[in-house]
Amino acid sequence: MTVDICANPYKQDFPLLANNPQLKFLDSAATAQRPECVLDAQRSFYETMNANPLRGLYGLSVKATMAIEDARKHVASFINAPRHRDIVFGRNASEMLNLVALSYGAHAVGAGDEICITIMEHHSNLIPWQQICRAIGAALVFMRPNEDGVVTEAEMREKIGPNTKIVSAVHVSNVLGVENDVRLMASIAHENGAVMVVDGAQSVPHLQVDVQKLGCDFFVFSAHKLFGPMGIGVLWARRDLLEAMPPLLTGGEMIGSVTETDATWAEVPEKFEAGTQDAAGMYALDAAISYIENVGLDAIREREDALVAYAMKRMGELPFIEIIGSSDPSLHHGVIAFNVKGIHPHDVSSVLDIDDVAIRAGHHCAQPLLAWLGVESSCRASIAFYNDASDIDAMIEGLKKVWSMFNGE
Ligand code: ALA
Repeated sequence: MTVDICANPYKQDFPLLANNPQLKFLDSAATAQRPECVLDAQRSFYETMNANPLRGLYGLSVKATMAIEDARKHVASFINAPRHRDIVFGRNASEMLNLVALSYGAHAVGAGDEICITIMEHHSNLIPWQQICRAIGAALVFMRPNEDGVVTEAEMREKIGPNTKIVSAVHVSNVLGVENDVRLMASIAHENGAVMVVDGAQSVPHLQVDVQKLGCDFFVFSAHKLFGPMGIGVLWARRDLLEAMPPLLTGGEMIGSVTETDATWAEVPEKFEAGTQDAAGMYALDAAISYIENVGLDAIREREDALVAYAMKRMGELPFIEIIGSSDPSLHHGVIAFNVKGIHPHDVSSVLDIDDVAIRAGHHCAQPLLAWLGVESSCRASIAFYNDASDIDAMIEGLKKVWSMFNGE
């Protein structure tokens, strides 16, 4: 069945979009909009179960504890993690990648070892490894994609070797939109005795993720790109690795017992969740996952693919647009980075904004990728299933306006 991208049964679920019909929101890769049920859940937590989880023995606190455990279970089933107690919550994907780098990486890597990442990493999956390599005297090795944005098996095999201790790669690039074959990368990492870390921030909103099928050892994402709240990050990892890792943050509720001079740690995952957590945010993430499951990831993907194909077809009609990455829409997973010949992306974005078309312009927190591609910055339209053809049409009209404004045509 072909998707009707002119019809839009979803916008009404998102109050910000429903209340601002003039807005053409094409920046969901930066942060997605939240459906009403997610906003309701956050409020409902504070209205009906607000107490500090894990601390109180009274009914309300138990209810709050149950809410976060249910959220953990739902996250686990969403990514097919074998056990919900292997899900660790934090503030965002960046924090969870820092946790992996500082707690696992700092102990697993020695001087002369290698950490292998791709050139298309978001800064959050680059800088923590840079820091570790610098502190330890390890080398950071980069896998680079071909002209379609694809990191080939040959490239993986050339860069991942016996000295590699950690391979860490973005699942879907926030600039190129391409999906890395992290399953293959994980098996090559394992052949060489390394572990595989996957940054799924940009994949979980678009693809069905199964961490067991991917065969990775760590998987990280953030709730705010998944139609959930800002301020919640998720780490899933293999239980044996989590158990061996020391906590990164210490303090409240992450302890077994404490004396004047020493402390022991709580079990996983509490060991990694120091201090009062954003329980309302976790409860809202639970609601976001229910919403996504209700819409269906297959339906989401089908609609987004159709919208990306439509957008790239229309952009292809404009000779002044240069698409970054593959010309094949099926390789873009909701993300189209581009430039308007000779016009700075900030100017493009500002002119589009006059007509309420919201895109991102800049380096997209992926400066080494842009430098490698030979562009300083770019525009980026990112699409979610709540978009429709009218959003794309408005962007196309805006781009024509940008061109004529700057070229006097
Ligand atoms: N990582 C987010 C983006 O790609 C902020 O825009």
